[in-house]
Amino acid sequence: MRFFIDTANVEDIKKANDMGVICGVTTNPSLIAKEGRDFKEVIKEITSIVDGPISGEVKATTTKAEDMIKEGREIAKIHPNMVVKIPMTVDGLKATKVLSSEGIKVNVTLIFSANQALLAARAGAAYVSPFLGRLDDISQPGINLIEDIVAIFSNYDIQTEIIAASVRNPIHVTDCAIAGADIATVPYKVIEQMVNHPLTTAGIEKFKKDYIAVFGE
Ligand code: E4P
Repeated sequence: MRFFIDTANVEDIKKANDMGVICGVTTNPSLIAKEGRDFKEVIKEITSIVDGPISGEVKATTTKAEDMIKEGREIAKIHPNMVVKIPMTVDGLKATKVLSSEGIKVNVTLIFSANQALLAARAGAAYVSPFLGRLDDISQPGINLIEDIVAIFSNYDIQTEIIAASVRNPIHVTDCAIAGADIATVPYKVIEQMVNHPLTTAGIEKFKKDYIAVFGE
């Protein structure tokens, strides 16, 4: 399983990129709004940091297929690594079909059922983004959705990649890797949580103490 970072914060993107653990970035309208910066400006900056797929979503106010297509073409022009993120609706599927046929990669987002993922794949999506955490929030195990999509895509040799999204903690990450998700898109905080382990910290301290006791600083 590969990792994308799920943020529009360039400082967090730089930190994760410097660690060598991420190979792409996902953003959404809420994450862009959180930064309070112009969409194109922040996306351009992100493309200069990470050399991999960068998902930029159509405006949250865009609902018609023809508008999503227009906006999607503009997003794709920002950089060759751009992936256009489109919400899972009838219009979203229509836009996915057109943009994909033009060679533009589409990430269909807000996937909450296996059928939605299958439809998005058939419309030509390069990626689907099932949201684990938001299903967990309403007491439906999100990991079941990831497992179902992995099984269905494998049954029919579907090449659309599964980006496990709405990942909130390290257990989600492990579960997604076991389930066979292609990618997990994770906030920086979760990357930090994955790095740290109390026994690693204690081990470093013990090695230091033992070394200094004999050899000094
Ligand atoms: C996916 O691409 C979304 O940006 C994101 O993972 C949503 O996560 P949240 O449910 O924690 O907001």
